[in-house]
Amino acid sequence: MIVERVRSIDPEGHESARDVRLGDGDERVDGRGLVALPGLVDLHAHLREPGFEESETVATGARAALRGGFTAVCAMANTVPAIDAPGLVAELVARGHAARGARVLPVAAITRGRKGKELADLVELARAGAVAFSDDGDPVEDAHVFRMALEYGRSAGRPILEHPQDRSLSRRGVMHEGRVSADLGLAGIPAAAEEAAVARDLAVARLAGARLHLQHVSTAGALELVRAAKRDGLAVTCEVTPHHLSMTDAWVAGSRAFVWEDESSTGVPYDSTTKVNPPLRTEADVRALWSGLVDGTIDAIATDHAPHASIRKEVEYAEAAFGISGLDTALAVLLMAVQAGMGDIGSVVRALASGPARVLGIAPYADDAVLVDPTAEWIVGADALASKGKNTPLLGRRLRGRVVAAVVGGEVRYRDDGALKGRRRGHAEAIARG
Ligand code: DOR
Repeated sequence: MIVERVRSIDPEGHESARDVRLGDGDERVDGRGLVALPGLVDLHAHLREPGFEESETVATGARAALRGGFTAVCAMANTVPAIDAPGLVAELVARGHAARGARVLPVAAITRGRKGKELADLVELARAGAVAFSDDGDPVEDAHVFRMALEYGRSAGRPILEHPQDRSLSRRGVMHEGRVSADLGLAGIPAAAEEAAVARDLAVARLAGARLHLQHVSTAGALELVRAAKRDGLAVTCEVTPHHLSMTDAWVAGSRAFVWEDESSTGVPYDSTTKVNPPLRTEADVRALWSGLVDGTIDAIATDHAPHASIRKEVEYAEAAFGISGLDTALAVLLMAVQAGMGDIGSVVRALASGPARVLGIAPYADDAVLVDPTAEWIVGADALASKGKNTPLLGRRLRGRVVAAVVGGEVRYRDDGALKGRRRGHAEAIARG
């Protein structure tokens, strides 16, 4: 048995169970005020190993995932070397097991060296344990190669996860192209760079007759294309990130107001922690993404956790690496959005658990669960992040919602001892007995 879950604990946190059994053992805690969720599955994270261990390792990433409520995490292939050979997949699987954090699900590269020219051996990579294929960080620009990838992905029984970006439009852009980029004098990435790529990807998927998953959709227009394709019966799925559901391009100019807040706290302009690809978009885009989440157009919320060592971020905006570290903070931001009325908890949990499992074509992990205190506040200090990547514009910010325990395969692999202290049933009974 695992957490005696949502059945016994109201998702709003009312009338929660007094007695919650954690994992397969006999550990029991007082669950009042807590919310039990299924294990969350992150479809999209960069664990940086091999090649960038100063930014993250499989071990630190798998721990950060658990700390954030994710009991399974897909590791992207843009490492050095790229994960494009069965031996590299097997190595990642082994490191994931050794980490004893979240389950690590390797996503192998679509093309050799992620160069976009020659397909990797997708069937062999799947056999070695790859759950999906992606050249994420880079789109597969050659449409014929992309068509072949979709067809071989189908034979391998694994989805192709595509990063939709028309580079001839995004060029050297560093933030969303619009009024804010003009005010700041920064080169922009137009919404059309994503939308043109999504249109092509959908056309090729239709031609190939194979399923396609679009990563980090960020504009209202791209979402509308996905909505129309789904209406036409195309086997397409898509994901959106927590930062695109909460922050706007105004954050690049120094705003720190979530889209549901009035302007309150302010940061400084040109803070490179706001630099991410695809870029933070407009408020209208954020609101459109919430509509897409609630109406089911969006299948999954995926972090695009992109940790970077400070040396790659503490440089001029134009030179800084793209990416936001997100595993530790995603759930709290989403719970705050729900509390602010942006969407319902059911849609968010679906997009964090059963939705991503469906994209991967796997059964949800019935023996995984997380226990969350939705009212616990915490400050995003560098020490509070399990990830090595401290590159988040939320640093210093107070968030509400905290994972207090995470169970993987019936085993309690993460406990917030401070939060659980007064809740241990054994402890409470001992005090009562005097
Ligand atoms: O912001 C991003 N960072 N977007 C990507 O597509 C890649 C990622 C990374 O690897 O840092």
